[in-house]
Amino acid sequence: MIPKPCIIDCDPGTDDAIALWLALASPELDVRLVTVAGGNVGLARTTANARAVVGLTGRAVPVVAGAERSLLADFRAEPAVHGSDGLGGVALPEGPPLAPGIAADAIRAELRAAAPHSVTVIGLGPATNLALAFATEPALADRVAEIVLMSGAWSEGNITPAAEFNAWNDPEALAVLLNLGRPLAIATLDLTAQAFVTPDLVARLAQRPGGACWQAALAILRALPASKRFGHRGFPLHDPCAVAWAIAPGLFGARPAHAEMDLAPGPSRGRTVIDRWGRLGRAPNLTLLETLDAPAFFALLAERVAALP
Ligand code: BDR
Ligand code: CA
Repeated sequence: MIPKPCIIDCDPGTDDAIALWLALASPELDVRLVTVAGGNVGLARTTANARAVVGLTGRAVPVVAGAERSLLADFRAEPAVHGSDGLGGVALPEGPPLAPGIAADAIRAELRAAAPHSVTVIGLGPATNLALAFATEPALADRVAEIVLMSGAWSEGNITPAAEFNAWNDPEALAVLLNLGRPLAIATLDLTAQAFVTPDLVARLAQRPGGACWQAALAILRALPASKRFGHRGFPLHDPCAVAWAIAPGLFGARPAHAEMDLAPGPSRGRTVIDRWGRLGRAPNLTLLETLDAPAFFALLAERVAALP
């Protein structure tokens, strides 16, 4: 197997942390760069968390800081979900220092050095860093094999009734990616709802022995608050779904669809308007991940992350 060269842009973030561990543990991916934006918590915390998460694996993957705000506004944080430290209060050893530079420059440099259609780009937070990279050198879109995002929803949102958190935090940036013209897959809230974590599931997962990354992942899963949207029965594990598509697409059911952003001010701003049934007659601009084999997903996650140091 030839691992796919991969860039991960994230805002760790509890589920971002687990997604990073899944990616770094998976032989299908050659993670060459991790870039970070503010989002779930401020940039100072998300970068410290990304360094610590990568550092715990012992892998020397550069972590580069990026956007502190969205293209047009400030990010809104989500400490009620992720804790004020962004990792649900799970303390990790300090990671290696940030690599020099700015995320958008580092993304462009990585793409410039790559072969055409070769790089898998995974976005787990607001799309600001990725949009800045492609907007400043659009020809580099040609280097992308696929962009995979955790973003959006075809039904209701989680930060507003209409919008999902990552999409809402930088809708203009997401619009740039929707219009890039390269293969794009999205794991929306409707998909990630199927990666549902209950206390029973965590207890079963915890029977598997594993290293420090696995113990930290379990601690994060125990720390995450149960969601009101799901009657406080548990919570969806969003970001690892996007990574799972890049490593095991057979776990998913998917369909081509057209999506566009609602960018107008007002209550629908940040909504991803997803035309699942081709009602608008527009050419599809993405692969919409619709169904997930959840037992196989959690088995893969556990097998991979538990094998990390
Ligand atoms: C997304 O928002 C963040 O809080 C999570 O990390 C995930 O990327 C879910 O809406
Ligand atoms: Ca995230």
